[in-house]
Formats: sequence, structure tokens, C-alpha cells
Amino acid sequence: MATNTYWDYLKLDRLLALQGGIEGDETALMPDEQHFIIVHQAFELWFKLSLRELRLARDHLAEPRVPEEKIPYVVHHLRRVTTILELAVDQFKVMETLTPQDFLAFRDKLIPASGFQSFQMRELEILLGLEDAARLDYGGTDPLEHLKSLAVDSPGGKLAWQRITDARQETSLKAALEEWLYRTPVQGSSPEDANDAQAVDNFLEDYFRKMQQLNASKKERMLEALGKITDGIERQFADGEAYARRFLLAEDVPEPERSRAKRVRAGVLFVESYRELPLLAWPRLLLDTVVEAEEQLVIWRSRHARMVERIIGRRIGTGGSSGVDYLDRTARYRIFTDLWAVRTILLPRDSLPELRQPEAYGFAR
Ligand code: HEM
Repeated sequence: MATNTYWDYLKLDRLLALQGGIEGDETALMPDEQHFIIVHQAFELWFKLSLRELRLARDHLAEPRVPEEKIPYVVHHLRRVTTILELAVDQFKVMETLTPQDFLAFRDKLIPASGFQSFQMRELEILLGLEDAARLDYGGTDPLEHLKSLAVDSPGGKLAWQRITDARQETSLKAALEEWLYRTPVQGSSPEDANDAQAVDNFLEDYFRKMQQLNASKKERMLEALGKITDGIERQFADGEAYARRFLLAEDVPEPERSRAKRVRAGVLFVESYRELPLLAWPRLLLDTVVEAEEQLVIWRSRHARMVERIIGRRIGTGGSSGVDYLDRTARYRIFTDLWAVRTILLPRDSLPELRQPEAYGFAR
């Protein structure tokens, strides 16, 4: 039987033979080109691990009934994704040791290759739940169609398109999370209960009332301090209340999805509002972890854009996009929109509607 060794276990002979670029010959590379290749390959390895962790997290959460003790596993896998992305952000420093002029020495031979074609990054976005319709157009074309048109006659291209197509068939983390949030007991009521829709409506109406009361007392304090309330301030309060209503009643979601979206959002609001309840301890940590992971992805996008600006300025990308301008716009993508939106409308603890059925959350009051 062959002896197991470090080099055989890690397949170092194969791994270390892959840094020769398109020529497959390290001696033919420009002085900084291997640096460029290795940094990209290191990122792709981290993306590979992130995808695995993300799928593990999603699988736990996509169970028809998620046992309480499984939630820490979801948090664990997602935290690993976040930590990897943090490290990846730091790795841009290594890339930045490439000077603008040294990059120009070999940049043109990359055309039309580009990080845009990182199919693992696309899979990551798709598995998190970024929708096709939310994507920015890419140099005037649909970005995924553009990728498809490039993925023609090379094994790498075929693999890229296959992986993207397969990822689109999978349940995303967002879809699994929404299914789970839909089932969150709201004021002790669950979707399978006969009066659930009424219980959710009552909770939301109580919430709007509390918000109005809080705003009224804020306005009173302003009036005392400033002597008057301008139309502008009045309008901002009214807009805030209208926004909360529109969001929580899911008026932005067309039928027939609206009532489902409304219940999902009520679940998010409930978990975020009654955070101290023992039974909501892990759910709220899970929501924090999801927001943290997305925040880190946004930071990754912004950091990548700054590095690109430093190295190539504002010229167009080798893949044909407008470059930094395009990259900065991608930093506006938000996948878990409900989790971000709810932050705008949270109330302080002492202004919350009274909790009903506290015993349902492991808390006797
Ligand atoms: C000298 C270093 C780099 C430069 C100048 C650069 C430049 C660019 C530019 C201009 C784009 C926009 C697409 C295009 O028109 O080509 C882009 C996209 C991208 N790059 Fe880089 N990049 C660099 C390093 C990296 C590294 C180290 C990674 C790590 C994997 C990376 C990953 C990506 C990804 C994933 C995209 C797609 C962004 C999106 O469409 O959301 N880039 N890059």
C-alpha cells in the first residue's frame, strides 16, 4: 500500500503545475504575471469552499421542518463564508502590490478574459438568491446571456455555463430562509392555525399604532424644543409610516404572492423585535449572520472596485464593461432585501406591542 504523504494528499504535483498561464510555461510569463495568476487562483479556491459551506447551510435550512438544534449549524457554515470573504477582502492588498505600469505590460493579452467570467462568483450570487432581473446590464447586454455567448468552444467555458445553469435549478439560501421565516410563530400563531391571518393582521395593526404613538411623542418633543414643526419634518414622519405600511403589508409585491410575502415580513419583524425571547435567540442570530454575510459581500465588491481604480484607473475592463463605474454599481446589489428593509422600521423595546402567548417562546411572563 502506498504511503500517504503531505504532497500526495494535497496533490501538490498537479496543483503547483497550474501557474503557467495560457502558454502553460512559467518561464514564458511576464515578471508579474505569476503573481496575478496565483492571487486569482487563491480567490477561486476560497470561492470553492464558500460554495460548499453555503450549500451545507442551505440544506439544513431547506428542511421542511428545521429542528431548533440545526440552526447553529446554519450559522456555523454561513459564518465560515463571511470569514472567508473577510480574508478575501484582505487579499486585495497582495494584488495591489502590482503597479499600474507593470500590469499594462501583460494586461492586453488577457482580453477578453475577465473576473466577470468567474463562474464561481456567479454561483455564489445565484445560490445566495440574487435574481436575474436584479442584475445590471453588462456593456449594453444581459450579463448571463453575455457569459453564455462566451461559453462556447472551450472545456472551461462549457463547465462555466453548466455550473451556472445547474445553480439556477437549486433552492437558494434566500428561498430557504423565506420558507423558514414564513413558518415563524407570530404572537404565538403559526400558518397552520385557523386564525393565523387574523393574528398576523392584528400584530401589524398593533405595530402601526405603536409607531404612530411613538412618532406623535417625538413630534411633541420637537415642538417643545424647536417651537414649530415644519412641513418637511411632518412629511418625513408621514413618509416613514407610509413606508412601514407598504413594506409590512407587502403592497410592493403583486398578487398572488402578496399574502405570503406579508407573513414572511411579519416573521422577520417579530424575530428582530422580540429578540430576548429564548426561542428566538438562534433565529435572531441566524438573521444577523445572513446580514453579516451579505454585508461582507458588498464590502468585497467595493474593495475590489477600489483596487481596480488604483491599478487601472477608470479605463474600460478587459471584459468590456465600463470598469470601476460598473463595479461600483454592483455594490448596490442587495439580496436579502427584507432583512435590510426591516431595520428602517424597528421600534425600541418599550414601544413594542404587548407580547401575546409568551409561553410559546419559552418565556413565562
Ligand atoms: C489587477 C487586478 C484586477 C483588475 C484590474 C480587475 C478589473 C476588473 C474589472 C474592470 C472588472 C469588470 C468587468 C470587466 O469589464 O472586465 C472586474 C470584474 C470582476 N473581477 Fe476583477 N480585477 C482584478 C483582480 C481581481 C481579483 C484578484 C479577483 C478575484 C477573484 C477579481 C474578481 C472579479 C469578479 C468576480 C468580477 C465580476 C464582478 C461582477 O460582475 O459582479 N478581480 N475586474
